[in-house]
Amino acid sequence: MKVGSSKLYGLLIFIPLALASLLLGLQLYLIIQRNASIKLNRELEYEWVFNGCDVFSGRWELDPGSHPLFREESCPYLTQPVTCQKNGRPDSLYQNWKWRPRDCELPRFDPLRLLEKLRGKRLMFVGDSLQRTQWESMVCLLQSAIPDHQKSMDKIPPMRIFTAKKFNASIEFYWAPFIVESNADHATKHRVKYKLVNLQSIDKHGRHWKGIDILVFDSYVWWMSNPTINVSVAPYDQVQEYSAPNAYRVALNTWAQWVDSHIDPHNQKVFFMSLSPTHLWSWEWRAGSSGNCYNETHPIQGSYLGVGSSTEMMDIVVNTLRSMNVGVTYIKITQLSEYRKDAHTSLYTERAGKLLTAEQRSEPNTYADCIHWCLPGVPDTWNEILYTYLVYHK
Ligand SMILES: *[C@@H]1O[C@H](CO)[C@@H](O)[C@H](O)[C@H]1NC(C)=O
Ligand SMILES: *[C@@H]1O[C@H](CO)[C@@H](O)[C@H](O)[C@H]1NC(C)=O
Ligand SMILES: *[C@@H]1O[C@H](CO)[C@@H](O)[C@H](O)[C@H]1NC(C)=O
Repeated sequence: MKVGSSKLYGLLIFIPLALASLLLGLQLYLIIQRNASIKLNRELEYEWVFNGCDVFSGRWELDPGSHPLFREESCPYLTQPVTCQKNGRPDSLYQNWKWRPRDCELPRFDPLRLLEKLRGKRLMFVGDSLQRTQWESMVCLLQSAIPDHQKSMDKIPPMRIFTAKKFNASIEFYWAPFIVESNADHATKHRVKYKLVNLQSIDKHGRHWKGIDILVFDSYVWWMSNPTINVSVAPYDQVQEYSAPNAYRVALNTWAQWVDSHIDPHNQKVFFMSLSPTHLWSWEWRAGSSGNCYNETHPIQGSYLGVGSSTEMMDIVVNTLRSMNVGVTYIKITQLSEYRKDAHTSLYTERAGKLLTAEQRSEPNTYADCIHWCLPGVPDTWNEILYTYLVYHK
């Protein structure tokens, strides 16, 4: 009896324990499986290829029949900083190049086809002035397909909103040069002497991004004006100087956490633009010279990566994207834009709201802008690639 009852007792303990551990095991197995499938999706999302073709490697081909995709004077929404022809640029060949991936052609940009995809949706570009140029380009690429009374433009700082009424769609821009909060967040008065970035604060911006169907982010040049940057981290009571890469890593991590906890990957889509290269020193592509992008009329031939494009910063982006649960697609426009020393606004833009004066134009080494791009121009190609993804990716 004694033996039997202890056996029974043992069995009574053993069965629930066995069941519990079986359940625990099953649960663990499911979690691991789920993470494995998330990881797989994430790799695929991040390293997007179009029908087996890497759209980011190729070369520029002169094709005046197809490019530019719109004319400077036919887009009423272009702003003065980008209208290089109107601002006096003497050459226009920079408008005639088509990006030709090595193994395929980019599909023709059909505004109506993209507008159909965007029906009832909001597409928002978030970031700095380079991102604003990409937004302006997208507006110009789409607006020609919409009759006058069915479109409108609104400025609601720090946002600009283009609405295609017939499609109930909007193409929006949100100014946030560091993505996280900073003292440069004012939409127009953002030229601050001492930058201060709140590396762990994002909600003030993030609440405007909630529920947006398609979000496109960028952030790079603002981190790079100095080797170090003043930041504040929790609990925000003291300012510290961080190296640019360290600050960038923390800020992108703040952003990644926001995306992971606010984005529904089944109904929303997030992109991150790789850095937009600069052409500040002509010795990089013409040994012995001492100019910049001014007077350049042709793309660089052959392989080229400028010293201004930090591989360390690019690696931080890639590692951040890989660590996320939401699959963010990385649009790698750096290399294709590297070749385009000819496509910057140079002297044909404004400074502090005014076109350059004759005196300023006589000093291109001081006054040429070799960071921003003319429109139509290189950012149209970034949008041709975004178009390809939005229209052809399931
Ligand atoms: C228009 O689009 C918004 C989302 O951007 C949606 O909430 C609204 O229901 C749409 N309206 C119509 C009439 O489809
Ligand atoms: C950081 O802030 C201090 C105090 O305002 C300033 O003196 C210093 O130049 C700043 N550093 C940078 C890298 O901006
Ligand atoms: C720019 O090009 C023009 C015409 O080719 C030339 O006359 C001028 O010297 C060049 N300026 C510079 C700074 O290279």
